[in-house]
Amino acid sequence: MSERMKTLTEPFKIKMVEKLRITSREYRIEQLNKAGYNPFLLHSSDVFIDFLTDSGTGAMSDEQWAGIMIGDESYAGARSWEHLEAESKDLTGMPHILPTHQGRAAERILYGILGGKDAMFISNTHFDTTRANIEFTGAKAVDLQSSDNDESALYHPFKGNINLEALLSILETEKERRIAGIVMTVTNNSAGGQPVSMENMLAVRSICNEYNIPLIIDGCRIAENSYFIKHREPDYEHLSYREIAQQMLRLGDAFIMSAKKDGLVNIGGLLTIKDEELATKCSNQLIISEGFTTYGGLAGRDMEALAIGLREVFDSDYLNYRIRSTAYLGEHLHAIGIPVILPIGGHAVYIDAHALYPEIPIHEFPGQALVCDLYVEGGIRSVEVGSVMFGSKDKEGHFIPASKELVRLAIPRRVYTQSHIDYVIEIFGDLLQAKKRTHGYAIVSESPFLRHFTARFKEIE
Ligand code: F0G
Repeated sequence: MSERMKTLTEPFKIKMVEKLRITSREYRIEQLNKAGYNPFLLHSSDVFIDFLTDSGTGAMSDEQWAGIMIGDESYAGARSWEHLEAESKDLTGMPHILPTHQGRAAERILYGILGGKDAMFISNTHFDTTRANIEFTGAKAVDLQSSDNDESALYHPFKGNINLEALLSILETEKERRIAGIVMTVTNNSAGGQPVSMENMLAVRSICNEYNIPLIIDGCRIAENSYFIKHREPDYEHLSYREIAQQMLRLGDAFIMSAKKDGLVNIGGLLTIKDEELATKCSNQLIISEGFTTYGGLAGRDMEALAIGLREVFDSDYLNYRIRSTAYLGEHLHAIGIPVILPIGGHAVYIDAHALYPEIPIHEFPGQALVCDLYVEGGIRSVEVGSVMFGSKDKEGHFIPASKELVRLAIPRRVYTQSHIDYVIEIFGDLLQAKKRTHGYAIVSESPFLRHFTARFKEIE
């Protein structure tokens, strides 16, 4: 079939359906109020289109479901584990494979060992759980986003890159510090889901060699990143998506994967390691908190489904549909005048809520206002990635905003059809017609870590 077709035909047919409940605007206003204006606290049955996350929300294939039925539930040395271990070794080239129940479990184990009060980690952008796990050990987490990402609307093929100049300069000024790792998040989730180029990763590898620093690849969206490399970076178009991922992962010393994304499963994670001594330390931790080294908190059936997912995700028809369908949403929103981060990322569309609602002061969280409006108008659930998630306070209690006020529409894999997406575009059109908001929200309660999950808000009149 032609790649130029305008209608985005999903390369699968639907074998099982899940009912969606249609609710009224009044009902949604009431539910949002009960949830303290935080969509994380809504009942999923009250949500029509759920763009809260692409994590663990995808649909498995018939082959993965078949894998569930033949999962081997033996405590040690299960067949399903051997299948997953072989797939993971082939993908990463790393000899030590540790299964975990999800990504942050792998993070807690690795950063618990590498971190500590004297340590510093440097990243293109730490994802929020990564930062929390690092800071929990007393270590410092520094983000060095590429300056190509400063302008939301400016096209650059690899806005997810780390800023190499800033990296070299911090390595010189922090000579006394123990730099415990460079963490490359691929694709760069908190920076618009933008990809990292092979060139950037190769440069980081040689810096890591020079300064003797471990390179950790946080690659839960490694297949999506490979799509961008093949289509945007010269010299890689002849390689398959899987071969590109294999090349990139071989540059790392450790690989952390939340398998709930490009593993195409609803639960699971991986920690893979090159160095034997570090792997032994991590395995000991794994046994204490996750489970034995051949299941690490997963059922045999979960490992079977993941082993199959890790191969399926590199299918070129799937990846083409996946990246094109995210772009379909983003490009249509852009066309009707919604300020989106360009180019459109792999797993999500990011909207600049401050540009959309310029009259809402930043300390009243314009992103939270958009998230609430999307739910009330269309039953669409999204997530704020701005000052609610990343804002903080100085010692005197003054508000320090995040660098951007974004809203993320994360697209679950193989779940929604083009007509669902067209509906979302229509709701955005309605929001543009509505009277512009001038006020947002204030936080009424919050927790000290990852406050966006549980914070409650009140509307400012
Ligand atoms: N690293 C990245 C880049 C992530 O996006 C996530 C999760 C994790 C680590 C943690 O993995 O959830 O399996 O424990 N991201 C989800 C999201 C939650 O919505 O972006 P986890």
